Amino acid sequence: MSDPATTAAGRAAPGLPGPSPLALAHRFIVLLGLILRAAVLYLRLVLDSRKLWRLDAAQRIEVQRRFAARFVRVAMRFRGGLIKVGQVASLRIDVVPEEVTDELALLQDRVDPHPFEEIAHQIETETGRPVDALFESFDREPLASASLGQVHRARDREGRELAVKVLYPGIEQQVAVDLAATRIGLWLFNWFVPPDLMQVYRELRKTILGEMDYVQEGKAAEEVAANLGRDAQVVEHVRIPTIHWATTTQRVLTMEFLEGTKVNDTATIEAWGLDVNEIVTWATRSFLHMMLRDGFFHCDPHPGNLLVDREGRLGIIDFGMNSRIAPELRDAIRKNVLASIQRDPEAYVDSLLDVGFIQASDREAAVELAKLGFDPRYYNLTPSEAMNIDLGEYLGEMRGNMKKIKSFQLPDGVVMLGRAINLLYALALELAPGIRPLEVIGPYVLEFMAGPIPPIPPASAPAATPAP
Ligand SMILES: Nc1ncnc2c1ncn2[C@@H]1O[C@H](COP(=O)(O)OP(=O)(O)O)[C@@H](O)[C@H]1O
Ligand SMILES: [Mg+2]
Repeated sequence: MSDPATTAAGRAAPGLPGPSPLALAHRFIVLLGLILRAAVLYLRLVLDSRKLWRLDAAQRIEVQRRFAARFVRVAMRFRGGLIKVGQVASLRIDVVPEEVTDELALLQDRVDPHPFEEIAHQIETETGRPVDALFESFDREPLASASLGQVHRARDREGRELAVKVLYPGIEQQVAVDLAATRIGLWLFNWFVPPDLMQVYRELRKTILGEMDYVQEGKAAEEVAANLGRDAQVVEHVRIPTIHWATTTQRVLTMEFLEGTKVNDTATIEAWGLDVNEIVTWATRSFLHMMLRDGFFHCDPHPGNLLVDREGRLGIIDFGMNSRIAPELRDAIRKNVLASIQRDPEAYVDSLLDVGFIQASDREAAVELAKLGFDPRYYNLTPSEAMNIDLGEYLGEMRGNMKKIKSFQLPDGVVMLGRAINLLYALALELAPGIRPLEVIGPYVLEFMAGPIPPIPPASAPAATPAP
């Protein structure tokens, strides 16, 4: 059996710190309580929608928020996989109501550090050798501690600076309990809602287990480094830590330490005489490279995972959350973009059907919706025209049609693509609101749609600076 709990239990050394069976049982019971609350909430919302027991709009938002806030409280207390479950659930706009995703997005995964002894024990159990024998020096204070593991700075005998990421001892048992409870909850709800929640569960499980396998993370970093290595310009501007396999296992990841500051530390970056716009531009290019050229990408480009060094190079770290874009999905995206430009509602809907965004039973309703989207009254408007349309009427019609589509579900891969794109967008908005998107994105999209990529134009001055 490949269940993480069993492997972990099977390998656990006597006296290894970790949750007791009683603590795990307690955890499970609290989670079942949470599921019960979710069920009551769902029932309440159903009664409301059937007009049997009405809630006003404010009450409806309130009951959902209250549940989400409770989930967040439990997750912060129990940590482990719950924080991850919440974070990934916050991406499922197809199944989780907005009131809940907003609250879940607040989940912080920075937690109090685990004691050094536990970390040292974990490294020794994993590699078979004590920390002192493996490294010339090893900082007892972690650089960072998150929901699943923490990172320490170290140096090896050759004098190389390292970052060592260590999975918390016993975290696998906790995550196994969290996943079991999540599965029960989703299975229960699956009887009542159209999207296939078991597919949601499988993807969630894959994401979380993937993040707990540091060999997988190391390989992902190497794969991305090799892919980006094909573009000489990207290589000049982007760094990815090399992996030190001799001291890497499933639960210990040893890699090159990248000097630098977080990409949103604009004060430092500017003090170094660097242009944040240019750095964000290269970040965007490297992620577009991963997504559109390679079909294998890092899904977590938030500022904590993007470092900038004094030479202005971008360091990308934390490859635990990664995803592939299946060839069918790439084809469907192409078809979708083409259909949007050609304003072809039938082809547009076909592209959604191809990858299971919607099911055939909803084809007609989806075509109606697409027609509305492509209606010349609303499509390709100049900003001044857009000011003058009756948005209320448009959104009303849109919403009416969307309600008819019952089978809407995000297919595998799209959730992660959406996450990465959202994070990149947020990054540009925060740090480089003046970059011109077409200049950066255009060449990659063109290549993706058709053929070879035109050469990247030299980095332009920030849009706000007028030419002398
Ligand atoms: N190779 C590295 N070089 C420098 N700092 C690192 C490196 N790897 C991790 N860190 C530091 O540790 C933090 C957490 O590491 P990360 O891999 O992002 O783990 P998590 O999955 O917990 O977010 C990072 O935000 C960064 O500050
Ligand atoms: Mg990180």
